[in-house]
This record gives sequence, structure tokens and C-alpha cells, in this order.
Amino acid sequence: MHTFVPVLLAYLLGSISFSFLYGKWFKGIDIRKHGSGNAGATNTLRVIGVGPAIAVLLLDAGKGVAAVWIGKWLGAGAEVSYIPVLAGLAAIAGHNWPVFFGFKGGKGIATTIGVTATLCIVPALIAGAAAILLIVLTRYVSLGSLVFAALIPILVWFMDFPSDIFWATLLIGLFAIVRHRTNIVKLVKGKENKIGQKVGASS
Ligand code: G3P
Repeated sequence: MHTFVPVLLAYLLGSISFSFLYGKWFKGIDIRKHGSGNAGATNTLRVIGVGPAIAVLLLDAGKGVAAVWIGKWLGAGAEVSYIPVLAGLAAIAGHNWPVFFGFKGGKGIATTIGVTATLCIVPALIAGAAAILLIVLTRYVSLGSLVFAALIPILVWFMDFPSDIFWATLLIGLFAIVRHRTNIVKLVKGKENKIGQKVGASS
């Protein structure tokens, strides 16, 4: 009970796809049928514009923050300590595979930002700085996203965080790789979309 309820709530919260809702409500489109086909902030930027993309980024990240806090509040007093970590994972899983939208969601990076900023802020900040630098230099958001998600478990390991946070961030890194597999192929072939480029659907 103590574990199931917060994890379920976090998954349902993560399943609210803000890029999809913004596209439907304000533009009358399914964001998953435009641009890269991804339901996320980067594709919102590409297809709709800067303001909506920032709103989606903040809302999707906010889901991650809220999920961890739901875990902290509802898990308080439980005999196990890893409920906030599980809730964070559940929110990212909800974003990637949303129950409300046919399990076709995003790639989880904005929600990962919220989850990791709440669970392990210093690794998240360092990885975030590296990712931003890489995105500015290459204009590949996917490359920055992958480096961000891959760096966090490494930093968490070296900074001696509790083992549940290490295993969760490792899983989050794997989620990111799985969700970016199309981007990885395109990066290797030199065909990945750059910020500011018009694109065709890729995922
Ligand atoms: O966070 C998603 C980003 O890394 C890639 O998005 O739309 O370029 O596939 P997209």
C-alpha cells in the first residue's frame, strides 16, 4: 500500500503529456504526427515555437519534481526508504509510455531533469551544464540529452549517493538510450535533426 499508491499516482501524473495537450488544445494537431514525431519539448519547439516549448519543458520537468515529492510525502513512515526514487522512475515511465495516450509518449528527458534535480541536485547540475554546452556547440538536443542521462549515474556513483539513487539513475540512463535509439542511429549517420532545422518524422 505504502509503495503502490505513490508509484501509481506518479505514473498517472507522468502520463499527462503536456506537448500533446498543448498541440491538441491550441493548434488542433497531434504533435506525434509532426516534426520528429516525439511528444516532448524539443519537438514542440520545432513544430510550434519557443514559448510553448519552454512551457512544456517546465511542466514536464515539474511532473518529475512533483512525483518525487509525492513519494516523499506518501512514503513517509514506510519501512522502505526508496519510495521517492520509485515514484520518480514511475513518472518518467509514464511520460515515455503514457496510459492516457496509447502508450506513445516522449523520451523522458524533461521529466528526468525534474526527478534528478530533486533526488541528486549536484550531479543533475553538472550533467546539465555539460549537456547545455554540447547542445550549444553541436545543435543536437538528442546528443545533449543522452550525455545528460548517461553522466548522472556516473556522477552519483563517484559522489557516494545512496545505492537506490544510483540504481534508479542507471535505469533512467537506460530509458534514455532506449527512447533515443532512432536519434542514435541518425547521429551516427550524421542525419540527426539540429535545432532550427525543418525535419521529417523520425520516431
Ligand atoms: O528530449 C528529446 C530530445 O532529446 C530529442 O527530441 O524531437 O529531436 O527526437 P527529438
